[in-house]
Amino acid sequence: MFAAVAVLASPAFADGDAAKGKKVFNKCTSCHDAVEAKDKVGPNLVGVVGRTAGTLESFASKYSQAMKDAGAAGLVWDEANIAEYLKDPKGKIPGNKMAFAGLKKDDEIADVIAYLKADPKP
Ligand code: HEC
Repeated sequence: MFAAVAVLASPAFADGDAAKGKKVFNKCTSCHDAVEAKDKVGPNLVGVVGRTAGTLESFASKYSQAMKDAGAAGLVWDEANIAEYLKDPKGKIPGNKMAFAGLKKDDEIADVIAYLKADPKP
């Protein structure tokens, strides 16, 4: 399993296309803002790449215990961890409350991460 993860985490992700990722992010905007630090059903994702899971202060009272525990256990949203979470949210963090089935295509995942990394502007 870890070998597969290592392959997933390989530099393929560096090749994500932020412009395409902006479109993929349309699947997230009902619950997430990545442009303004405004929380919706989900925490805002401004600067999420590199953030410790479950630690956005403005969302502190709304995170699931599972998400806070994951962060307390050291989960940082680097590209590999975001990719695994988006592929299978419930598999990556059992008990978390993001009601999202996941992104099936690796290139969509890479693109949306590139978008999030690019410090999105409107
Ligand atoms: C139906 C609403 C919904 C959709 C759609 C959704 N999310 Fe979420 N997301 C949430 C919620 C709620 C949480 C907090 C989960 C928890 O605390 O257990 C979350 C958490 C996250 C986190 C962790 C943030 C943190 O501060 O630790 C990331 C990263 C994330 N979502 C990315 C995405 C991306 C990218 C998409 C689109 C591909 C997406 N989400 C789609 C509701 C959603």
